Amino acid sequence: MKTEEVANLTERHLKAGDGLISILEDIQGKHGYLPEEALREVAEQTGRSLVDIYGVATFYRAFSLTPRGRHLIAVCSGTACHVRGGPRVIKEIEQQLGISAGETTPDREFTLETVACLGACALGPVVVIDGHYLTKVETTKVKGIIEQARKGLDKVEVKGDERVFPIEVSCPRCNHSLIRSDVLLDGIPAIRVTVAFDHKHGWLSISSLYGSYTVSSKHHIPEDTIVDFFCPHCHAELLGGTMCPECGAPMVPMIVRGGGIVQICSRRGCKGHMLDISGTNL
Ligand code: FES
Repeated sequence: MKTEEVANLTERHLKAGDGLISILEDIQGKHGYLPEEALREVAEQTGRSLVDIYGVATFYRAFSLTPRGRHLIAVCSGTACHVRGGPRVIKEIEQQLGISAGETTPDREFTLETVACLGACALGPVVVIDGHYLTKVETTKVKGIIEQARKGLDKVEVKGDERVFPIEVSCPRCNHSLIRSDVLLDGIPAIRVTVAFDHKHGWLSISSLYGSYTVSSKHHIPEDTIVDFFCPHCHAELLGGTMCPECGAPMVPMIVRGGGIVQICSRRGCKGHMLDISGTNL
């Protein structure tokens, strides 16, 4: 990426009133990582110190300072996943790809990383490939998963895909169900909330299938917009204080019936989400 290109891109974001994260996301998206010379140029253009820029670039898992592969495989190394066989899964992936955790395959197809607890402990070992959560992963499935990733995991099959399962959620404040039986998405009753962004206010329906990203809304929500979510019953804002591990936007918490919390990223287009069905401690 040329210095001039970074300068133009930064200027465009600054004019639009975007923050540093949007600038870094753009560079990461175009280049696959954040080259040092690009970060220097961003520091120059924004008037922020290089230390500051590096601080943000290294804080969020979505950013990388070294080239990553086309597919990112992240295996949870948290305690629950560890005792459920996480290390065996990591070893199998390492063998299949011929690399160690933290490395990228020579053909730049795959990068393997280990990450801290992803908040889905009861479903461990958890592996995230290109933003898709795979739960209870067994070593015998690793080969198939890698092949599937090569073909593109973005093609989630809503029917019969084991990464997709229905959840019933309620408001963390009033506990009223957020499922609307008369609103169908992916063929089943959807989650219905109200949202506010850019002086607009209206309904948003979200598929209640965990793993599906189908949504529909009253107003078109532009990509990258951070949206405020509200309960349509008690009108409380759905805020839990957690930030998205992918992009840093606030996460939106909802209670899962039967115990647990699901959190989704409030930024339109970000697939950051966490599911913890081991407890209800908001
Ligand atoms: S320890 Fe792996 S998801 Fe929590």
